[in-house]
Amino acid sequence: MSEPKKLFIKTYGCQMNVYDSERMAEALGGKGYVETKSAEDADMILMNTCHIREKAAEKVYSELGRFKGLKEKNPDLKIGVAGCVAQAEGEEIMRRQPMVDLVVGPQSYHRLPAMDDALQKGEKALDTDFPEDDKFETLKSRPKAKRGPTAFLTVQEGCDKFCAFCVVPYTRGAEVSRPSERIIREANELVEAGVKEITLLGQNVNAYHGHEGGLAGLIWALDKVDGLERIRFTTSHPNDMDDALIEAHGTCDKLMPYLHLPVQSGSDRILKAMNRKHTRDEYFKLIDRIRSARPDLLLSGDFIVGFPGETEADFEDTLDLIRTVHYGQAYSFKYSTRPGTPAAEKTQLPDDVASDRLQRLQTLLGDQQRATQESMVGKTVKVLFEKAGREAGQMIGKSEYLHAVFAPATDVAIGDVRSVRITKSERNSLGGELI
Ligand code: SAH
Ligand code: SF4
Ligand code: F3S
Repeated sequence: MSEPKKLFIKTYGCQMNVYDSERMAEALGGKGYVETKSAEDADMILMNTCHIREKAAEKVYSELGRFKGLKEKNPDLKIGVAGCVAQAEGEEIMRRQPMVDLVVGPQSYHRLPAMDDALQKGEKALDTDFPEDDKFETLKSRPKAKRGPTAFLTVQEGCDKFCAFCVVPYTRGAEVSRPSERIIREANELVEAGVKEITLLGQNVNAYHGHEGGLAGLIWALDKVDGLERIRFTTSHPNDMDDALIEAHGTCDKLMPYLHLPVQSGSDRILKAMNRKHTRDEYFKLIDRIRSARPDLLLSGDFIVGFPGETEADFEDTLDLIRTVHYGQAYSFKYSTRPGTPAAEKTQLPDDVASDRLQRLQTLLGDQQRATQESMVGKTVKVLFEKAGREAGQMIGKSEYLHAVFAPATDVAIGDVRSVRITKSERNSLGGELI
């Protein structure tokens, strides 16, 4: 038998890309590729890219520059660009970097095996279609080989919301929900491979409509999967948080008390300009409803500062919203102009103004995150252990609230869920004792 070919995948961007990278590796596995952790000994390098901000997109070209040397040493090495930059820029990538052999978009990567045939003949391959055939139908079942205790599972793709700053509706296409039978089958396959916790993914995961009762209906169906212990989902849009989903947070034991619910801005004027289609008051009311269903839920958010037209008063409104809501976790970004989006046409704010706001925002969010973490000290949480800790004799896992928790490893195996009493809060993790 010939030596297996080695595939090196580098993943950028969101969790949906992490999921897609796994599926790409599985698709190419059928062509005899096995994954390697080093670009140096690869026969194929795939970069699964992100287009969300300018920096993310530009990084692709600097990384490609790095791989150039490898291609000079090994002319048989194939280099591919997948993901959202591939979708957004297509052929332009091959023009800017002629050593790229393959460009494949997020909706067409199930065609990778055929594209690899073309590469082996010395041709180039490009596919950025939004094909009629469903990629998940072509991709085979998930491998049976034992895997770690947590997994992502894409249930919904694309976005019809068209926020004024965002490229996702263009790179991922229209909103599509996968049929629930297939999701449940995939969840069962993951559980058989050792998975205990599944995070359901979608750009607007709570707009999922492939099951009666929407995402809540799907969660209740997954609740019945034996061996599956935890369910999470991300990312949600405030306007799609329906009553059933809010209620599930109070009543479904497997659904973890953590919710990523981006709001982007606390100013009504900016929310309108962003086309987010809700006000700050509506967001406050929603948070109240969610917290009455599940008082201990840890709330996470995304924020953009320096959106075109954002005044100091608008920014103060965002700080005020953050103080009112109090986030346990958050991600914040300086607005980045994206080609083809409506906001790109507007007058941009000076960079120093945006940088200053980002710093102030992150100070506040950092304080809240630390306070939330410190408030866990003395409490008992349930930890799903994922791997060995940094120090000998330690194991590390995640609490219900997605805090990283380390504890002495005595009698604990990867995949175990154990009660841990939190004794200390460190920079990015909590320490505790098994009870
Ligand atoms: N579907 C998710 C977000 C996907 S993008 C949602 O609606 O919440 C992830 C985050 O990137 C967004 O929440 C936003 O905060 C940020 N983002 C998106 N486009 C951006 C841009 N042009 N500049 C800066 N940040 C951006
Ligand atoms: Fe982008 Fe808005 Fe869609 Fe989220 S909801 S993916 S921010 S367009
Ligand atoms: Fe980036 Fe595409 Fe995800 S642009 S954030 S990889 S959907």
